[in-house]
Amino acid sequence: LWLILGIRRRQPGEPPVENGWIPYVGCALQFGANPLEFLRSRQKKYGHIFTCKIAGRYVHFLCDPFSYHSVIRQGRHLDWKKFHFSASVKAFGHESMDPSHGYTTENLHQTFLKTLQGDALPSLIENMMENLQSVMLQSNMLKSSSSEWEVDGIFAFCYKIMFESGYLTLFGQELDGDKTAARQQAQKALVLNALENYKEFDKIFPALVAGLPIHVFKSGHSARENLAKTMLHEHLSKRIKMSDLILLRMQLNDSLSTFNELSKARTHVAILWASQANTLPATFWTLFYLIRCPTALKAATEEVKKVFESSNQKVDPKDPQLVLTREQLDNMPVLDSVIKEAMRLSSASLNVRVAKGDFLLQLDNKESYQIRKDDVIALYPQMLHFDPEIYEDPLTYKYDRFLDENGQEKTCFYRGGRKLRYYYMPFGSGVTKCPGRFFAVHEIKQFLSLVLSYFEMELLDSEVKVPPLDQSRAGLGILQPKYDVDFKYRLKKQ
Ligand code: HEM
Repeated sequence: LWLILGIRRRQPGEPPVENGWIPYVGCALQFGANPLEFLRSRQKKYGHIFTCKIAGRYVHFLCDPFSYHSVIRQGRHLDWKKFHFSASVKAFGHESMDPSHGYTTENLHQTFLKTLQGDALPSLIENMMENLQSVMLQSNMLKSSSSEWEVDGIFAFCYKIMFESGYLTLFGQELDGDKTAARQQAQKALVLNALENYKEFDKIFPALVAGLPIHVFKSGHSARENLAKTMLHEHLSKRIKMSDLILLRMQLNDSLSTFNELSKARTHVAILWASQANTLPATFWTLFYLIRCPTALKAATEEVKKVFESSNQKVDPKDPQLVLTREQLDNMPVLDSVIKEAMRLSSASLNVRVAKGDFLLQLDNKESYQIRKDDVIALYPQMLHFDPEIYEDPLTYKYDRFLDENGQEKTCFYRGGRKLRYYYMPFGSGVTKCPGRFFAVHEIKQFLSLVLSYFEMELLDSEVKVPPLDQSRAGLGILQPKYDVDFKYRLKKQ
């Protein structure tokens, strides 16, 4: 009977198994409804490691943060590529980017490291700063009489500014020196169109990763196709000020792959999604919590003011030329803590590896467990982020949680008196750690530095409750709020 139902029985040395009530689906529904609650209750029942059947696969959840290392270090038994490459194909519809499948020999991981980190950062920072200021101070963001309040949703405001600025920073501009009003409007229309298509596609993203075919979703499907059309190489090659990332990816698509033109374009849609999907909600949560907490707002504003003053820069919305170097950005511990705290409260990524063969997984407490080939091992760092033994009052926002007694970055966190190596993981871990994380934190710091310098901001309802997290995206990264929160803003009198 076990065999017929496809149900696994625990074998000696294996973690305890929960098959769930429904064959094939297993625990997926309970997990999906509230992953944190589900995992906590199973942890109480079974201990540090247990196995759940989720949508036909056996997933071993490892809940002991001191054992994370055994999964994160790139052991010869664990594979991360299979899962990532196949998720990308399902969602974006390009041909496989796994070199072992024969369509390309590009080493994507290397491409990302080369173009999103180290020496690539200064030009990303410079372009982002210019784009942010031009987008945030343009006429459609502000009333003609600038002393009047403008009302908007915080999420909508972050979307408008961060999407356009990030898009232009990575994919460049069409303008080619021609800055006439008509050309600028055409450029604006293109970006707004991309934003609408992105939003429509993003709605169906969780369903695609879960394996549903895109044809089921009419408007999401056409949104993805529209985005892909704008990213055909014939269009991209006319753009100026493109990032090294997109330039290099185009070059390698053309020289190392056998992709057709549409498949190449789809790989760029994948990058657009990766660059925005977490950044947008992360910016929302950071700004929302900041505006809601007067002490945080004051500390952040002072830090920003000090940085601009120390480099003799004047805040002038009529001549917006503020710059921040990489060094200055890396030296803003208050903003750093404010961003970390907002992400701690909103991140729900799932870190996944697949067993290449049967092997023995060694835990920190010296126990070891037999894992079978093709089983999945998963870490769910929200368990760390909401652990009251690591973070006191874990549901409370404390803007300075990541500052030490000298006001510098705090890196020592403990559980049961033992120092933790892993305590904050919104960017994933090990080899699959987000390659855009430095750029992401820089762009959010830039956004905050600028809005805090140019605008006065207030919540419409100063007592507003924190909107709940939209759990439908659990596992995919930073969760969105279930609904937006209104605020008002106007230019600061300088
Ligand atoms: C992958 C988080 C912003 C580029 C990832 C992953 C996470 C993540 C959790 C998957 C790691 C894993 O599977 O273990 C975030 C967060 C961001 C952010 C929280 C913002 C707050 C960005 C930005 C870029 C970017 C701005 C810029 C292009 C990528 C890419 C991957 C990735 C290309 C796939 C890497 C691969 O599969 O090799 N990110 N990310 N991310 N991220 Fe980010």
